[in-house]
Amino acid sequence: MRDHEFLYVQKRNDRTKAGIEKTVYGQLPDGQTADLYTLHNAAGMTASITNYGGIIVSLTTPDRNGKFEDVTLGMDSLAGYVKGTPYFGALIGRYGNRIAKGKFTLDGKTYTLVTNNFGNHLHGGTKGFDKVLWTATPVEGDEPALKLTYTSKDGEEGYPGNLSVQVTYTLQKDNALKIDYQATTDKPTVVNLTNHTYFNLAGGAKRDILDHVVTLYADKFIPIDQTLIPTGKLQPVAGTPFDFTKPTVVGTRINDSTDTQIKYGGGYDHGWVLNGTGDSLKLAATVYEPTSGRVMEVRTDQPAVQFYTGNFLDGSVTGREGFPYKKRYALCLETEHYPDSPNQPNFPTTVLKPGETYKTTTVYQFSSKKE
Ligand code: BGC
Repeated sequence: MRDHEFLYVQKRNDRTKAGIEKTVYGQLPDGQTADLYTLHNAAGMTASITNYGGIIVSLTTPDRNGKFEDVTLGMDSLAGYVKGTPYFGALIGRYGNRIAKGKFTLDGKTYTLVTNNFGNHLHGGTKGFDKVLWTATPVEGDEPALKLTYTSKDGEEGYPGNLSVQVTYTLQKDNALKIDYQATTDKPTVVNLTNHTYFNLAGGAKRDILDHVVTLYADKFIPIDQTLIPTGKLQPVAGTPFDFTKPTVVGTRINDSTDTQIKYGGGYDHGWVLNGTGDSLKLAATVYEPTSGRVMEVRTDQPAVQFYTGNFLDGSVTGREGFPYKKRYALCLETEHYPDSPNQPNFPTTVLKPGETYKTTTVYQFSSKKE
């Protein structure tokens, strides 16, 4: 292992080559050690990921002048993440987003999950996949990758079945971070994995994201009630503040208090139903930040994307360099199945059975343009 680590450090000295650097990130309260892996490609982009929660600690991407800056919200240390963040950069599971009242019925049996969000179950419970230590295997190459594995025990947070999960982060040559998710189970269960990175393409997250220009390739969205649980019906975006089918400045209608859905979400905190069907990767969202020129394209094979505009950030979490992250200082694009699918017979199923393999891919690609 020592030789391995040495190799990583050697490679990192040559910035023109792709590689992986591994360092000890810190000690968890239970004494286990978490590591930090920095993947870098030949174009200069880096992705730092810890095996604690599979958290993306930083992602540096170039602006229109070639300046690399971090485009995520994050903490200065492992201790910061352990103390608690609203899922900055983290892998989310076993079920990303909400399950109403933390209950669902499968094959005639009702399961009770941990409730952690206004009486509902959110992002896998109080100790979801974002708070566990994953086993990491770095994979060297032109497109360096980090393979993370975790076995979620039968009954964990209330879910049935031992679930073997594998998530691979690959930093591609073309400045894209690909995330491949895979899972198998030994009992029927529900699965909906995602990543919860908070993006601010201006770099450094020093101001809000209201100037970001967003396109969502979705003609319908998923209306919610006051507790952010879907009503069960889909609604066309046309004629509503939820219409991002053309490039739209985020701040334009985010405070439209005449719109009930904006009111319930405190801004945008909804699932958009992605156009197109099938298992192939499709463009879900494009984000452009005009001052830096940075562009992010999100591709996925998932049926929906949760577009969350950091409405619950309130400055109480102090991030990198002691900087407080305030309301709407970031946006999330969480590719996933519809929220509360286990209780919504009309939504595509999230049930995974023994013998089946859950397999999905999402790619976040970064570039820049002049104006
Ligand atoms: C949810 C928000 C929540 C945030 C952080 C998002 O996925 O939709 O309502 O506040 O995660 O927990």
